[in-house]
Amino acid sequence: MNHGYSYQSTFALGDIAHWRIEDIIGGDKRLDFSRPFMPESFARVEPLSFLNEDEKRILNQIRGNAYLCIFGLVEEFILPFVLDHARTHLSGDDYRVRALLQFAGEEAKHIQLFKRFREDFEADFGTQCAVIGPPEAIANAILAHDPLAVAITTLHIEWMVQRHYVDSIKDDRDLDPQFKSLLKHHWVEEVQHAKLDTLMVDALAVGRNEEQIMRAVEEYIEIGGFIDGGLKQQVEFDLDAFTRATGRELNQVQQQQFREVQLQANRWTYLGTGMSHEKVLETLESLTPQARKRIESIAPAFC
Ligand SMILES: [Fe+2]
Ligand SMILES: [Fe+2]
Repeated sequence: MNHGYSYQSTFALGDIAHWRIEDIIGGDKRLDFSRPFMPESFARVEPLSFLNEDEKRILNQIRGNAYLCIFGLVEEFILPFVLDHARTHLSGDDYRVRALLQFAGEEAKHIQLFKRFREDFEADFGTQCAVIGPPEAIANAILAHDPLAVAITTLHIEWMVQRHYVDSIKDDRDLDPQFKSLLKHHWVEEVQHAKLDTLMVDALAVGRNEEQIMRAVEEYIEIGGFIDGGLKQQVEFDLDAFTRATGRELNQVQQQQFREVQLQANRWTYLGTGMSHEKVLETLESLTPQARKRIESIAPAFC
């Protein structure tokens, strides 16, 4: 691989980016419910032309809440995975151990941040919004796969976070500043994680032939299918939360349109933006060009 990433440089950069939960949430740092939380490219509320502006904004906020909660969920499998990976070589490269423990420590902090966010959201939004879970069951299902498949999934998630912030969130002036600040602080620490994921994928692929690598790629696709099942459920939860929050009962045709548009919006948000990320594809290609081709052939279904 010629990505140029090293444990020493990612550790040094990660140390600079550090922030504390108390500094970015709580006190006068409140969510502004008169503003949208998510960029339209992810929320996709505009195609639902039967909704009025208030209803579109409320659905956008329901999606924003689910977004941070789903990150909290996936980070619950990343945390033990990184700890297990760190534990395989505790002696030798000190920077490797420190960089991976820093990574794990940041994910533990992010999990706590997202729980804290959910408390704020629920206190002020006024309607309970269900989110898929429980986190332990999802983590166990994902961690039951080949570690290389789990590492590729983690790589996908962390490059996806980069893409979301840089391409769609950073320059969106309509978004609630507090929600945007949480996304920015999360992104800034994830930059180093994506590099460490690349190093984890490299390490886990060592000594595998093409067939063994492609088997792991198929398992990564299976994990994607598992997440896709969760997203279908999340769309049902969001429809239910929307109905309760707005008092608007959608008719059968409108409900069907809601499900179709929102499922594809969720697929793009959590699956398509990762599967089609150039850095993810480069890493797959470095394992075997077949791996890149395989993912490129199925990614359009999630875009
Ligand atoms: Fe994170
Ligand atoms: Fe991360």
